[in-house]
Amino acid sequence: MNIAKALTVVVVVLILIQLIPRPSHENPPVTGTPQWDSPRTEELFKRSCANCHSNETIWPWYSNIAPLSWIINLDVKVGRSKFNVSEWGRPGKNDGDEAAGELREGKMPPWFYMPAHPEAKLTDAEKDELVKGLAATFGDEDAEHEEKP
Ligand code: HEC
Repeated sequence: MNIAKALTVVVVVLILIQLIPRPSHENPPVTGTPQWDSPRTEELFKRSCANCHSNETIWPWYSNIAPLSWIINLDVKVGRSKFNVSEWGRPGKNDGDEAAGELREGKMPPWFYMPAHPEAKLTDAEKDELVKGLAATFGDEDAEHEEKP
């Protein structure tokens, strides 16, 4: 198969997958909110974390395009299921107490999120502020147990 043919196949597949019904981007209702220790913590959280950990997700235009749409949807779904500040007080899992640790260790926000979201990038000082704010708002399970395996 020559390159032109291969490219045609890729383009046709990309077009065809757009016909698969896309996942809903309707944000579920906000049913509970945490008591933030300060408006600043909430502001930094909104900038850096809220798209995947709240029901106030701002869906970018490219979240309508498969296969990106599938990946983004999955991320938001899994992110919300672990930790969702719009469903604070819900029964079951809501891992606020791991938030400070995830940020401190640089695991969140995920690296692949950053290129398309420059606003989520925190300076060292802002990161420090948000770590402290998250710990004050949700507790800090990492600091309590030190070195987790
Ligand atoms: C692009 C979406 C996205 C962004 C932005 C994001 N997260 Fe996450 N987050 C996830 C996903 C997906 C998971 C579940 C998978 C995992 O643990 O890696 C997760 C998991 C978590 C968990 C649960 C960890 C656990 O093991 O239970 C916490 C706490 C968390 N994130 C905090 C944050 C904080 C704090 C920020 C902002 C500094 C943030 N996240 C930004 C997608 C995101």
